[in-house]
Amino acid sequence: SILLRSALKRDAGRAIRSFSSESTPARKVAVLGAAGGIGQPLALLMKLNPLVSSLSLYDIAGTPGVAADVGHINTRAVVAGFVGEDQLGEALKGADVVIIPAGVPRKPGMTRDDLFNINAGIVKGLCTAIAKYCPEAIVNMISNPVNSTVPIAAEVFKKAGTYDEKKLFGVTTLDVVRAKTFYAGRAKVPVEGVNVPVVGGHAGITILPLFSQATPATNALGAEDIKALTKRTQEGGTEVVEAKAGKGSATLSMAYAGAVFADACLKGLNGVPDVVECTFVQSTVTELPFFASKVRLGKNGVEEVLGLGPLSDFEKEGLEALKPELKASIEKGIKFAREN
Ligand code: NAD
Ligand code: LMR
Repeated sequence: SILLRSALKRDAGRAIRSFSSESTPARKVAVLGAAGGIGQPLALLMKLNPLVSSLSLYDIAGTPGVAADVGHINTRAVVAGFVGEDQLGEALKGADVVIIPAGVPRKPGMTRDDLFNINAGIVKGLCTAIAKYCPEAIVNMISNPVNSTVPIAAEVFKKAGTYDEKKLFGVTTLDVVRAKTFYAGRAKVPVEGVNVPVVGGHAGITILPLFSQATPATNALGAEDIKALTKRTQEGGTEVVEAKAGKGSATLSMAYAGAVFADACLKGLNGVPDVVECTFVQSTVTELPFFASKVRLGKNGVEEVLGLGPLSDFEKEGLEALKPELKASIEKGIKFAREN
């Protein structure tokens, strides 16, 4: 009967409501650098994420406008903008996940390491505030050079006595996003089903895509194809920097990648099983203290750092070749944090 049907519908509605409130706990996400090229589209994407209940947008300028704009979107997250250092504490208090895309981007001809002198200090300052106001938050580091900014963050947290290696992540998702896109294009397979692990670090040859483990596997690609795909993935950032010709680096694809990674962290926190992403973390996978590899995410951040799996000879060579540069970048970050 109509009555029964509407009663069933009502019950189903109630079940869905109670299910969703139980399965989506309140989660505060803070974006530091939220008025920037990455920060703005990332703020948009986080506002669209139903796992976020509170979205805190911080920058040294411009965040009131971004927050007012994004805040009008009719999704769950309540948005607040914070501007200037005296509002940083308020922006961070209670945060579950802090995403950091603050700092200067590259111009043509620059390496990511050329950003060190400016960005190291910015990251150090922001991490000092995180240690004070939300020491238990998961930190997603986007600011370059990631190979050094993550070690800087670790040192700042160690000094403050708040370091938890399970909660500090260098965001390398854009390398995975690129590897998937380029592989799908060359192998002529639908990109939606493609997966490619990318390990190492996040600069030039330290970015090591493992196309031998790409799925779906293909025998359409020869050694020359793999070499070309590897080089294009390693130089993906430079490709965008050159195309933008002085107007900065990747922002839209980075915002997408940052949103994918933050979503994975939130799912992990919420107890969703088998959430695995490649990310740059404290690691024993190689002799280097930090390394990007597949990581299983859970309620406490890192649940398990996964190994590299079987490598092709080409990948083994790439792994050995990247170690000296990655080691030097890590040490540079640690030294900076200890001396400043
Ligand atoms: P941008 O210049 O457009 O934006 C940076 C923002 O940071 C600005 O709004 C600026 O006001 C803000 N900022 C500066 N100092 C700050 C501070 N102390 N506190 C808070 N905010 C501060 O640059 P962008 O294109 O958004 O890039 C940001 C960073 O992300 C760069 O370092 C870039 O190299 C890096 N990046 C990383 C990846 C990656 O894959 N990890 C990808 C792309 C870009
Ligand atoms: C990227 O990979 O796009 C970023 O690291 C930005 C850059 O400088 O290339």
